[in-house]
Amino acid sequence: MSVICVDHLTRDYGGGKGVFDLVFSVEKGEAFGFLGPNGAGKTTTIRHLMGFLKAQQGQCRIDGLDCWRDSDKIQARLGYVPGEISFFGDMTGAEYLRFMEGYRKLGAGNRKKELLDWFELDPSGKIKKMSKGMKQKLGLVAAMMHDPEILIFDEPTSGLDPLMQSRFVELVAAEKQKGKTILLSSHMFEEVERTCDRIGIIRAGRLAAVDSVEALRQRHIRRYTVTLDSVQQAEAFAKDFDGQQEGCRVTVATRQSLEEIFMNYYGGRGE
Ligand SMILES: Nc1ncnc2c1ncn2[C@@H]1O[C@H](COP(=O)(O)OP(=O)(O)OP(=O)(O)O)[C@@H](O)[C@H]1O
Ligand SMILES: [Mg+2]
Repeated sequence: MSVICVDHLTRDYGGGKGVFDLVFSVEKGEAFGFLGPNGAGKTTTIRHLMGFLKAQQGQCRIDGLDCWRDSDKIQARLGYVPGEISFFGDMTGAEYLRFMEGYRKLGAGNRKKELLDWFELDPSGKIKKMSKGMKQKLGLVAAMMHDPEILIFDEPTSGLDPLMQSRFVELVAAEKQKGKTILLSSHMFEEVERTCDRIGIIRAGRLAAVDSVEALRQRHIRRYTVTLDSVQQAEAFAKDFDGQQEGCRVTVATRQSLEEIFMNYYGGRGE
């Protein structure tokens, strides 16, 4: 059974906006990257998984539970970082984290201190005076301090500096090692490449591709055929460029970088 299952999910906002008949799943211990241009439907999909939105058609399930009906049970075993974190009231970061500890009924042995140290965050100040990156870090600490088995991140590193982005990638790798299941939406190709086993690319509310990083690369090999003046030249050319020779013709294959592949999808040219 898949841990996260998006099963023919549709939410039609009208005017071609929304998500349409989305199907994908994330297995236990897998990190799944969710990519796509602005407005493609990533946050909408994640909000269904969190039980904030009810599917118009289809269903989302986590651990076999219905994300809408059983959202309370699901949220207890899940860590979630929303794209735009909005904290309430006049709290300090420390007060907010204490509130979350109470809400989740966590004892002293939780991961708060470890995570605050890892992200070098001092939570003592008022949240409304914190920088964007500090708020993002606070959201990450709150989402992970109860050590959940499932992690759902919506653009987790937006606002983090490069050092902290890299800390985040290391943390995700360690969580994956422990068998955690991770869904991560991101615009940072490198972060996705470094953390994810498989990738789903969404465009205009529809999945344009779902595959392993390696399979995506394989599918986007470009082949060129070059015709030379003589067989001897063709032989030499084939040797130099690791090509396939046939008479005067040589076929060579070049690999696109993952970034080029993603940009193809983002730009709407697809395959
Ligand atoms: N409550 C709503 N009512 C109407 N349209 C909405 C609503 N919420 C989202 N949309 C539209 O649905 C589409 C998908 O939005 P969504 O926030 O899921 O995109 P996204 O992939 O997360 O984009 P980004 O990369 O910018 O975060 C957009 O066109 C958006 O304007
Ligand atoms: Mg979004």
